[in-house]
Amino acid sequence: MTKTARAYTNIALIKYWGKKNKRLKLPYTNSLSLTLDRFYTDTQTEIINDKHDIVYMNQNLLDNNQNKRIISYLDTVRQMYSFNEHFKVNTVNHVPTSAGFASSASGFAALAASINETMNLKLDRKHLSILARNGSGSASRSIYGGFVEWEAGNDNETSFAVPIDEHPDIDLSILSVVINKHSKKISSTVGMESSVKSSPFYSNWVTLVSSEIKEIKQAIAKKDVQKIGELAEHNAMSMHALTLSANPSFTYFEPETIKIIQLIQELRQKGVFAYATIDAGPNVKIICTKESIQAVQTYIEQQLSNVTCVVANIGQGIQYI
Ligand code: PMV
Repeated sequence: MTKTARAYTNIALIKYWGKKNKRLKLPYTNSLSLTLDRFYTDTQTEIINDKHDIVYMNQNLLDNNQNKRIISYLDTVRQMYSFNEHFKVNTVNHVPTSAGFASSASGFAALAASINETMNLKLDRKHLSILARNGSGSASRSIYGGFVEWEAGNDNETSFAVPIDEHPDIDLSILSVVINKHSKKISSTVGMESSVKSSPFYSNWVTLVSSEIKEIKQAIAKKDVQKIGELAEHNAMSMHALTLSANPSFTYFEPETIKIIQLIQELRQKGVFAYATIDAGPNVKIICTKESIQAVQTYIEQQLSNVTCVVANIGQGIQYI
């Protein structure tokens, strides 16, 4: 029996938004994230004597429509490492009910690590990151714990994540605020493509990210949590400006998303540490300190009745159990 690979999700503080190569998932810019400790995926793969893969997710067998993305990823991996084996994949997402985190980062990082284990590929973490990136861009960063930078690179061999500080001694906690609402989902791939193609601000974004990456790395080195919060919030709002300025315009925000952004601004005016970051969905992740997180959660829950809050701390990289 092979070991189970466990990967944790990550939240981008400086975001990846736009692919310069769609097939290889090469980004236009570097990005920088924090790996979290609460939300993870456990994956185990077994070689089967068959010409088709079978995939179980959370104990359910996926049909040919549901498993498409995973099967196509397994085809890519077979091609990259020149083998023909097929697999029974067992993957379980440990994400508290609707915590609002996409499972693609932890999911593809765990799957890459699991194939590495089962096929005895003996990949180092750089090559594991490359393999994970081929499943989902943000998965390249979930190979490592703590603060992680994904270097954009120019081809398959040069686009991978590197650890900035895997065990940072820094006072940061994340409050995930889930808006209990099913909004129409524009996938990150479609959203990125549309932003790159039609937002007049896309080239400004590329310039902005390159300077914000430098600044946030300095802030991390200095443990300047306020600067980290300010940069992360500004970067997230700039990313969402690309969706609003695309043609046709679109947004991941729901009315509650805007309300939470306003509540965070009010909290800051009262001297409470809180900064917002938002991915390709309506939920808000609030960057807090250990001291502020309780006050932030209480305030949000008082003002909004239909939300769920989940607290996460800094997590680790790939584990084999
Ligand atoms: O890796 P994807 O295709 O799920 O894209 C992730 C996009 C964002 O979450 C919005 C930003 C990021 O860097 O994780």
